[in-house]
Amino acid sequence: MEKIIDENKQGESLILEQKEDNKRKLFIESYGCAMNFSDSEIVASIMANQGFNTTQKLEEADLVLVNTCSIRDKAEQTIRKRLEKYNAVKRAHNPKMKVGVLGCMAERLKTKFLEEEKIVDLVVGPDAYKDLPNLLAEVDEGRDAINVILSKEETYGDISPVRLNTNGVTAFVSITRGCDNMCTFCVVPFTRGRERSRDPQSIIEEVNDLWHKGFKEITLLGQNVDSYLWYGGGLKKDFGKASDIQKASSVNFSKLLELCAKAQPKMRIRFSTSNPQDLTLDVIETMAKYNNICNHIHLPVQSGSDRILKEMNRLHTRKEYMNLIDNIRQIIPNCAISQDMIVGFPTETEDDFQDTVSLMNYVKYNFGYMFTYSERPGTMAERKMEDDVPEEVKKRRLQDIVDLQREHSEIKTKEHLDTIVEVLIEKESKKSKLQWSGRTPQNIVAVFPKAHYKIGDFVNVKVTDCTSATLIGEAIGLSDNN
Ligand code: SAH
Ligand code: F3S
Repeated sequence: MEKIIDENKQGESLILEQKEDNKRKLFIESYGCAMNFSDSEIVASIMANQGFNTTQKLEEADLVLVNTCSIRDKAEQTIRKRLEKYNAVKRAHNPKMKVGVLGCMAERLKTKFLEEEKIVDLVVGPDAYKDLPNLLAEVDEGRDAINVILSKEETYGDISPVRLNTNGVTAFVSITRGCDNMCTFCVVPFTRGRERSRDPQSIIEEVNDLWHKGFKEITLLGQNVDSYLWYGGGLKKDFGKASDIQKASSVNFSKLLELCAKAQPKMRIRFSTSNPQDLTLDVIETMAKYNNICNHIHLPVQSGSDRILKEMNRLHTRKEYMNLIDNIRQIIPNCAISQDMIVGFPTETEDDFQDTVSLMNYVKYNFGYMFTYSERPGTMAERKMEDDVPEEVKKRRLQDIVDLQREHSEIKTKEHLDTIVEVLIEKESKKSKLQWSGRTPQNIVAVFPKAHYKIGDFVNVKVTDCTSATLIGEAIGLSDNN
């Protein structure tokens, strides 16, 4: 706790300190996607209203909450190890400590944690955080507590998040929850429920509030942002039943982007994630129209093979994806594009894999996230298909595309040599205390000597060198955006 010392009001400050010390301590940790990190800020806000302060020290926590990820088996294993650690600390230092599991694993495993494993006191699914005060009261009385009910409404639009571990410059703003896509490999529709969009008014208010607090860049978050659709609330799939007035005044993603870009013309705007089937020309044109919308699209494709795309229930073909890439490049020539790719999906042959390789060669992504297929219980792929690609084949294919991506990243990064890029300074470089680290609009990390600049400045950087993923340069002045 920071000490509040005011010579003239010592009595008052002492009372303040006392109150602060009476507060219980929350240790909150997040794993997985950006949405989880964003949700943890909602949770911290709810818990602050319950008299909790966050702490970075596990040993002193009264309550430990871990926001969990189920996307791959490995993610769940990591969290199980953390749960063991919390319980070890609890035994050694703090027997009264309570442990709660939030997020996708809570939703997927439900009562299993409480009944079979007995290593947690509290289980709360992604749509039930508003119930935390009630659940906590149960726990305080010595009972286990659980709420894993998924919602049909956007759940947290009215909550102002407490920014955790913030650099004060970049922030996430969630715009949709859930996903209706049912990709056959993916557990998210089961753990996060149906797709719902958040009221644009509350999104804009959050963006304005962030700007006034000094933030310079936001990332609009959703599992599939391009299918954002506000018509007064409710599930995306029920839009057909909306009245004509609701339909006429509805806001889709390109309109929302425009609203955000106009609300704060100096705020950098990013968004993630785009699903190729829903990314419209309108969105690309809106990006081109507004300087403050960053020229980067994260556009997961998962596979380059039409047959595998179909088995994955990705609702587009290889050709359609390539057309989309062509359109992006035509409308925004310097747009960075990144990917997610899965290798070793059931039945994937060497030919299918080569289709992925050739698609990567066609697009030459700036960067990407690549995974071996991990079978998830309850998904269509798990129920209908055999996980038949041997582990060593999966690993070899993964290594092949990781290597290929590194080559492409290097080509793309080198294109910036001897040019001037705009960098928003976010933090000190991990490698040197003398350097700042920030990102370009294309989401490429750039490092350069600190000189007289500070965190939150937009600076023009002359690129003099690079690695495959990082630009190295020298600041030549503040950019016009300050
Ligand atoms: N639309 C989401 C996707 C969430 S999952 C988003 O906002 O990012 C992130 C990535 O994990 C997916 O794009 C996919 O490449 C990978 N993934 C999902 N399920 C997987 C599985 N069962 N095995 C391996 N990788 C998986
Ligand atoms: Fe998962 Fe596909 Fe949705 S990857 S999050 S079901 S778009």
